Amino acid sequence: MGKVIAITNYKGGVGKTTSTINLAYFLANEHKKKVLLIDFDPQANLSYGFGIEDDIENNIYSVLRNDCKLEEAIIRKFNMDIISSTLDLSVADVEFSGRTMREFILKKLLAPIKDNYDIILIDCPPNLGLLTINAIVASDFCIKRTYKTCRCSKNDKTGNRM
Ligand SMILES: Nc1ncnc2c1ncn2[C@@H]1O[C@H](COP(=O)(O)OP(=O)(O)OP(=O)(O)O)[C@@H](O)[C@H]1O
Ligand SMILES: [Mg+2]
Repeated sequence: MGKVIAITNYKGGVGKTTSTINLAYFLANEHKKKVLLIDFDPQANLSYGFGIEDDIENNIYSVLRNDCKLEEAIIRKFNMDIISSTLDLSVADVEFSGRTMREFILKKLLAPIKDNYDIILIDCPPNLGLLTINAIVASDFCIKRTYKTCRCSKNDKTGNRM
């Protein structure tokens, strides 16, 4: 049965997208798993990372709007299926805020295709808005990507870094 994993952190620039791409590539190419990658961030950095521009007609925003079927938005790259994002997705919080069961939109869309894959990875935006909530609700697991800076370190009594 396919597992859905959201890569999250409300903080930006901590390596969510980089980790998602590397994990997906590793699972698809080293472990021969069937992988679906969903770029769920309006910044579309994951899509750009695969050379997919944000003027593609069918993307995750059109899927959420029911303008196309999820299968129609799939792009095949490096033995993975990818659904790209677009800056238009940034209106999702406002556009879908009035929908009934708005937290379950992605979960419902993934339900029919979930078992076509071993792993579905969702690259989340750096906030706790409706998109991230949808990703978490749709997921079996979440990976919270963190980034430890030197500000986490403390000096010991001798002044050395611990
Ligand atoms: N393990 C790492 N070591 C060093 N640099 C890294 C590592 N992972 C990511 N980076 C770099 O950190 C920057 C931010 O990474 P990335 O875009 O993956 O973060 P993000 O959490 O997805 O950002 P955003 O929240 O804006 O979507 C990039 O320049 C990336 O190359
Ligand atoms: Mg990112």
